[in-house]
Parts: sequence; structure tokens; C-alpha cells
Amino acid sequence: MPDYKFDCHIDRTGTSSLKWDRYPDDVLPLWVADMDFPSPPGVIEALHQRVEHGIFGYTHASKEFKEVLVEWIKSHYNWQIQPDWIVFMPGVVSGLNNFCQAFRDTHQQVVVQTPVYPPILHAPDYSHLLRLESALVKSSSDHYEIDFNDFETKIRKQPSQFILCNPQNPTGRVFTESELNKLAEICLKHDTLICSDEIHCDLVFPGHKHIPMASLSPEVANRTITFIAPSKTFNIAGLGCSVAIISNHGMRLAFSRQLEAFAGHVNALGLTAGLAAYRSGHEWLEEIILYLTQNRDYLSSFIHDKLPEIHIFPAEGTFLAWLDCHDYDLEPNPATFFLEKARVALNPGADFGEPGNGFVRLNFGCEQALMVQALDRMEKAIHESEMI
Ligand SMILES: Cc1ncc(COP(=O)(O)O)c(C=O)c1O
Repeated sequence: MPDYKFDCHIDRTGTSSLKWDRYPDDVLPLWVADMDFPSPPGVIEALHQRVEHGIFGYTHASKEFKEVLVEWIKSHYNWQIQPDWIVFMPGVVSGLNNFCQAFRDTHQQVVVQTPVYPPILHAPDYSHLLRLESALVKSSSDHYEIDFNDFETKIRKQPSQFILCNPQNPTGRVFTESELNKLAEICLKHDTLICSDEIHCDLVFPGHKHIPMASLSPEVANRTITFIAPSKTFNIAGLGCSVAIISNHGMRLAFSRQLEAFAGHVNALGLTAGLAAYRSGHEWLEEIILYLTQNRDYLSSFIHDKLPEIHIFPAEGTFLAWLDCHDYDLEPNPATFFLEKARVALNPGADFGEPGNGFVRLNFGCEQALMVQALDRMEKAIHESEMI
């Protein structure tokens, strides 16, 4: 097994990294959702070869990419898709807005489950559609659950679009087959169109299983657009290559037309990297999941032992942790407190919708030593504030 050196610190300054450039040098950035690990060696090698070629004109996804993707999805999720169901897009965020736009004439309200990734929260607003929020509910066991009665009440008001995020950002939930079946049943009953953002599907921890919403049945697939991408999985988010899978011919046509008009081509290097990743990244992916599992577990133990009044929701997937800081009095809000007093950048929970007030999202997709340093700083800042 190659040593992927996930523990090595690689300086990202000077690479126009959003994560590392946003704040002053003394701030440890555990915010925006990319990882600090180099991509699989096969991806880097393929990019070198493509760059050597020297011509970077308009590109389209090759037949081979579609075949490799079909195989990836079959072998990882036991879902048999067809190559012609695949639509390439420059990003999932463009896809989310494209979905809202493409079906806005017939389905004029959009249901989202809060707290949720901000571009999902705001996609309905950008298309001037009515946004209805069905909040996920905290159970007694530090676990978020779906309130199905509330969900159905929102869905049945009028023909709806539903944007599902699974694995869920920021709570880290990976919904079970039974939960997905209940959601699907409600959507089928009320003529709901489903957009299932499954961008984090490959990053799921032992004991949990990702099930694509559209794989539940042909009826569900017939009203679902699924988004996946190699970007989170293989840390190539800056290369702009994402995928929509749409079995319904009419929906695929409506979605693709709209996309061609507004979103443009996939990045040439993104196609190269994505193909290489799906072709050669299996072993790297297994290793990164082990590394992320260790980070997640270290983080949970640290919070339980050293900062017991923060409630952590252990991630079932993703590399994101959702921390409830209500029980500490962190002024003016937890994210600003940690930025100013600990020099650690986290995402403010309020960005994920109203239920996120008093929370922060922490990205643990980094070498463990960096995360430990950030946690030590956070602990110190809280204890110093308690002494005042
Ligand atoms: C749930 C979810 N969807 C989409 C994205 C971004 O996708 P893209 O970079 O392909 O636009 C993210 C990034 O954090 C995400 O967490």
C-alpha cells in the first residue's frame, strides 16, 4: 500500500486557495469544504500528461468517462445507470440553480431541510420560488432526524421541488434506506420533483451506507435528478467537473437545455482529473476514509473530554462536523468568537439557516496535527473567556 502522506503539511499559500487566503496568516482555516490532502497520484499524473499536450480548447466528456462512471456507481452503490442519463456540469451549485429554474413553471415552491448547505438554502430565492423549510430535528442521542409529518405538510401545499442533501451538509447524516423510502413515498404521493445532492456520497464512514435516492425504484428515479462529483471525494473541487444523472428523458432535456444556455462547458482539466480519479482512485479513497475516521473520532473525544458543553453530532459521512455551542456564552457568536479569540476560522452556523444559530461547522479534512492545534486554541480561548 503506498504511503499517501496525509499527515504531511503542504503549504497552500500562493495557490489562490479560498480556504487559506481568506484570513490573515495566523488563522488556522477549518472552514470551506475542501481538504488539505493532495489528490490521488493517478490524478496528478493524468493532469501532468494533459498539460504537456499544450492545447486546452473546448472539451466534452468522453464515452470512456461515462463508462467508468457507470461502473463506479454500479460497484459502489449497486445502482445500474445508463451512459445517456449522464449530464456533465461545471459544478453542483450551478446544477442546483439550474434545477430550480428548469422546473419553475410547473413546480413553484421548493422544500429544503434545514440546517443545510447555504447554496441549497438560497437556490429557491435566486429563481424567485417560494422556499419552505422543514427543519431536521435533534433527537436525544445527538442525532438529527426527519420530521416526516412536517415534511409532508410543506410538500403538499402545492406542486413542489424538493432539494435533498444526502450525505447531509452540515449535520453529517447519511440517511437510511427506511428514511429515504418514507421521503420518496411522500414525494410520489404529491407529485414532487426531487433534486438529490449526493456530492459527498463517496465519503461515508464505516457502519453507514450511502443509498442513491433514485436507486430506490424506477418510479422514484423517474422524478429525480441526482448530483454527484469527483470533487469532494478526490479533492479536485477547483477543477469544476460535476455530474447530473437523470433517467427521465423529458426532465433530462429540460435540465440540459437550461444548462447549456447558462452554465457552459466543463473544464478540460476537470474532465481529465475526474476520469483518472474514478479509474484509479479506489485505494486512495479507502485510505482517506480511514484517515478521516480517525480525525472524526479524535475530534469527538476531544470535545467530550475538554469542551463538554459543546454538543457534537458525529458525522456519518462528509469531512464536516456540526458543533452546538449554545451552552457556552460565546459573544458575539461562536464563529466570530473562535476567529477573534482562537484565530481559527469555522463556518458560522447561521449561514445554514435559522436552526444553525449558535452552531459552527468545522472542516476536519486536514492533517491531524493542524486540527489538534486548532482544537487546543479553541479550548484555551473558551477557558480564558470563562476566567474574565
Ligand atoms: C452539499 C454540497 N453541494 C455542493 C457543493 C459544491 O459543489 P460544486 O463545487 O460542484 O459547485 C458542496 C460544497 O461544499 C456541498 O457541500
